[in-house]
Amino acid sequence: MSDYEFVDHTYDVVVVGAGGSGLRAALGAAQAGLKTACITKVFPTRSHTVAAQGGIAASLGNMSQDDWRWHMYDTVKGSDWLGDQDSIEYLCREAPAAVYELEHWGMPFSRTEEGKIYQRAFGGMTKNFGEGPVQRTCAAADRTGHAMLHTLYGQALKNETEFFIEYFAMDLIMDDEGACRGVTAWKLDDGTLHRFRAQKVVLATGGYGRAFFSCTSAHTCTGDGNAMVLRAGLPLQDMEFVQFHPTGIYGSGCLITEGSRGEGGYLTNSEGERFMERYAPSAKDLASRDVVSRAMTVEIREGRGVGKEADHIFLHLDHLPPETLAERLPGISETARIFAGVDVTKEPIPVLPTVHYNMGGIPTNFHGEVLTKANGDPDHVVPGLMAVGEAACVSVHGANRLGSNSLIDLVVFGRAAGLRCGATLDAGASQPELKDNQTDGHVARFDRIRNASGDQPVAELRLEMQKAMQSNCAVFRTGDVLREGVEKIDAVFKKLPGIDVQDRGMVWNTDLIEALEFDNLIGQAAVTVNSAANREESRGAHAREDYADRDDETWMKHTLAWVDDGGKVNIDYRPVHDYTMSNDIAYIEPKARVY
Ligand code: FUM
Repeated sequence: MSDYEFVDHTYDVVVVGAGGSGLRAALGAAQAGLKTACITKVFPTRSHTVAAQGGIAASLGNMSQDDWRWHMYDTVKGSDWLGDQDSIEYLCREAPAAVYELEHWGMPFSRTEEGKIYQRAFGGMTKNFGEGPVQRTCAAADRTGHAMLHTLYGQALKNETEFFIEYFAMDLIMDDEGACRGVTAWKLDDGTLHRFRAQKVVLATGGYGRAFFSCTSAHTCTGDGNAMVLRAGLPLQDMEFVQFHPTGIYGSGCLITEGSRGEGGYLTNSEGERFMERYAPSAKDLASRDVVSRAMTVEIREGRGVGKEADHIFLHLDHLPPETLAERLPGISETARIFAGVDVTKEPIPVLPTVHYNMGGIPTNFHGEVLTKANGDPDHVVPGLMAVGEAACVSVHGANRLGSNSLIDLVVFGRAAGLRCGATLDAGASQPELKDNQTDGHVARFDRIRNASGDQPVAELRLEMQKAMQSNCAVFRTGDVLREGVEKIDAVFKKLPGIDVQDRGMVWNTDLIEALEFDNLIGQAAVTVNSAANREESRGAHAREDYADRDDETWMKHTLAWVDDGGKVNIDYRPVHDYTMSNDIAYIEPKARVY
């Protein structure tokens, strides 16, 4: 071991990440009487959940009749049948209770005249198994994530979760039998290194939007937990499925909520045409996100984009009553003014499909337990390791997530993970001593990056990766373009040893943080583009021009991808669960997906 000394901690449960799913898992474990820590690289209420706008899906039926089975049907169809239906059933059944729990904890939802939680329309959400739009998305104006995150942080504190704030998680502590025993972290404000021993580690580290050039994600969204899983020799699942949100502001990428179309907004091309009527005659602007993003891209490609370079689309809210905009969409009205110079009451907003969400991630079952394929078992549970939220692939979103199903995923599966910890762990049970050789590799990597003195500025390499991902793993894909992407990302990977980290300090060294984050991102970029190159069909957000159709016969399966130290990606597959959880609903058979 090197000059570094570790500060040791022991907990029953350690949650990494303090966004919606991490906080919900942590407070659930603490409620179960388990000694629980939550370690996070940013202050909890700055986690990216804070940026969620439009709402959280649950079939409360406050605006008209609704049913969790209809929600389940929409989610299966939205996933293009790649979602696991046992998990989707769990999500949709549990959703109303999870929302009422937030309400009872004081989350300030918008209200109807009668005082019920206000619900708005969102893409792909329908009544009666696809018959027409339903208002299912529960909203706190267009700042739902902000309201939810603050509510959950308050509850986590009340339930005595212990927070380790501004700790950068380094790696998973794995034993020789393949079980997870804890996690290491670097404390940013004093430079100390820490070892957290735990019966269960729950990864809630969010997505990796920052592998792309233009995304709605915060700069912190570097998928640190996903990268730790890859370094532990475990696979990530379905990484080729990357969601482009139709309405990122042109130029800045800032999110304009789908809720704006739920409130009556619509898209137009350079001819002033409401083109979505051609692509999705029934759902129109409220078709699911992959469909709308593709339609916008086709309009631009065929010369009907707006602006000087005909390279974007207009989103109109200017026909809506100013009172509606002020009451329901105050946040995006401000964002449009600041980032596009647009007064939404008078002018359209320039928008473009922008990377928004990762359907893929760490494979788990609906309890949040991490899975791998081992000894012929495609659902082998990795002892001691769980994952929730965008970091996880449970898989409820399959090939395409419906808007507002992400916030509900956070609380339903965060709660499930807390319950599972409570059901399977004994508070204070003894844990094996950690050996130095279990964390030597963590220190070696940290030291190597900290002392890197090559001639490649990290920012330049990161940009090279982001541009390659943006152009070679885009809304539309072909084998040639993806294979070129594989080569480009491999070339970036090979340059890793040549990076230059100028600051050698241990205290608030942002140069080192950026290098560690880049090291995390590049492995995820590699598995994403390789998984996409391998999947020769079109499904959900993975639209191949050379394989235009969904091919259930060959490709109704989840991708598993591993990466080695040299950047080589290995791919295998596991079956999609073709069963539900209970007898209350039958497996929803695949069919053509039209909106
Ligand atoms: O458009 C939005 O408000 C985003 C919601 C989501 O991604 O679920």
